[in-house]
Amino acid sequence: MALTNGGAATPAPASGGSNLVLILDYGSQYTHLITRRIRQLSVLSLCISGTAPLSAITALSPKAVILSGGPHSVHLPSAPSFPDGFLSYVQENGVHVLGICYGMQLLVQKLGGVVDVGEKQEYGKMEIEVQKESALYAADEVGGHQTVWMSHGDEAVKLPPGFEVVARSTQGAVAGIEDRKRHFYGLQYHPEVTHSTKGMETLHRFLFDVCGLSADWKMQDVLEEEIKTIHSMVGPNDHVICALSGGVDSTVAATLVHKAIGDRLHCVFVDNGLLRYKERERVMSTFESDLHLPVTCIDASEQFLTALKDKEDPEMKRKIIGREFIAVFDDFARNLEKQLGKRPEFLVQGTLYPDVIESCPPPGSGRTHSHTIKSHHNVGGLPKDMKLKLIEPLKLLFKDEVRKLGSILNVPESFLKRHPFPGPGLAVRVIGDVTKGDALDTLRQADEIFVQAIKDAGLYDEIWQAFAVFPSVASVGVQGDQRTHAYVVALRAITSEDGMTADWYYFDHKFLIAVSNKITNSVKAVNRVVLDITSKPPATVEWE
Ligand code: XMP
Repeated sequence: MALTNGGAATPAPASGGSNLVLILDYGSQYTHLITRRIRQLSVLSLCISGTAPLSAITALSPKAVILSGGPHSVHLPSAPSFPDGFLSYVQENGVHVLGICYGMQLLVQKLGGVVDVGEKQEYGKMEIEVQKESALYAADEVGGHQTVWMSHGDEAVKLPPGFEVVARSTQGAVAGIEDRKRHFYGLQYHPEVTHSTKGMETLHRFLFDVCGLSADWKMQDVLEEEIKTIHSMVGPNDHVICALSGGVDSTVAATLVHKAIGDRLHCVFVDNGLLRYKERERVMSTFESDLHLPVTCIDASEQFLTALKDKEDPEMKRKIIGREFIAVFDDFARNLEKQLGKRPEFLVQGTLYPDVIESCPPPGSGRTHSHTIKSHHNVGGLPKDMKLKLIEPLKLLFKDEVRKLGSILNVPESFLKRHPFPGPGLAVRVIGDVTKGDALDTLRQADEIFVQAIKDAGLYDEIWQAFAVFPSVASVGVQGDQRTHAYVVALRAITSEDGMTADWYYFDHKFLIAVSNKITNSVKAVNRVVLDITSKPPATVEWE
């Protein structure tokens, strides 16, 4: 069975089918969160576009479908909706349907009820009162109040035949509805958001008591299924290549494929001269000693740095790095072909589920369905004429799930918890020409002191990303009795959920004093240390 993700092919999970919860995405910022919450309850959940064709839904034969929230009004002619035939399909097949926010309004309208532009617009934390023991609420919740997260303007004012109200907001708006006989349920609020204090209990009740799903989605099964899939794709004499970046995703993907096909996997790690302090030695030792991965390390630093000489424009620098990477990778593949006597046919990529979803944006987002999986940005794209078939064993997983999988595969915990590092490496942290003077070495030393101090203080896991930046600015100082004209280093540490937004990390000032002293005392070329206290937005995480 092939799973389509609004068009992008995704390998079918064997444990899906009748124990699968399918989310139809109408563009709410919380849609991914619904998917994640359900997976946290050990049930496989997948998300496809809310306007996907009926065949995409029936091919998956989900046991339950959740219609997500979204920024639309059901009154607009362009309001996105599920495909024709959806309501008959779910009723004929006993599929349970839960509409959340916009999803509930859509359900009400399509089943013959009335949705009005609400007088009582409700946004943010609100109270609801549970009115009836029902599929969604237990007997002991009746009469009780719950705090929930609301975000709606429109409101269901007349329910379709067969429905009853089981919860109302304290302002009187409909908050929970159900038609148990036909297996339709609706929540006007977002149970997936932590502000909805009993939201997880409601989801738990829906999944297990109402839909009869079993909590059987486990990482060990994911691992076994993926190995089976790889065996079915890769023939006994086929060879597979993989570019390792030193990051969690490509490392876990390669380790998994190696477990499946052994040394017919050929990995390459490129030292582009833009790596952190001792990065090459550190990651190569993990690959060799801990993971026993067959990795060729190519020192291409001269090639990259020569190409980057005198280049100041950030986008130009990124393009050059991408181009050089492709050239190195191409050479690697050609050499391998000579050695093996045949072309490697497959390429491993560490694509994650958010990349897959992102390439199929929800209706109304203003973005078109590109149907192309993002090229692995850590490796900067791939030669177009290589015609390699892709193996993407992490394609159904979120980052935290990849870490769990890595842990089953014995990838060291310290490695799995590493902060993200951008594909273009230190080139986006040295402003302007990276080859000028000792910029890269100076940055490496300061960065190492900062990150090591964070580790020593036990703060590493609290921080999403921490690093030093070399703004390529000199300032006047006094070091000893000498006036100096030396460089400024900036420190950046952020907290974030996903890198899309970020806040700067509030260090204790004693910690900052110690780090600043250590950098100015040990890194000769630096006489000033500054701290970046900007959130994202307006700044980005990286400086270039
Ligand atoms: P920005 O700077 O866009 O960073 O706020 C968000 C996250 O993405 C990383 N980043 C990159 N990763 N290639 C990458 O592989 C890039 O060109 C790139 N630029 C930024 C950044 O480190 C942060 O985690």
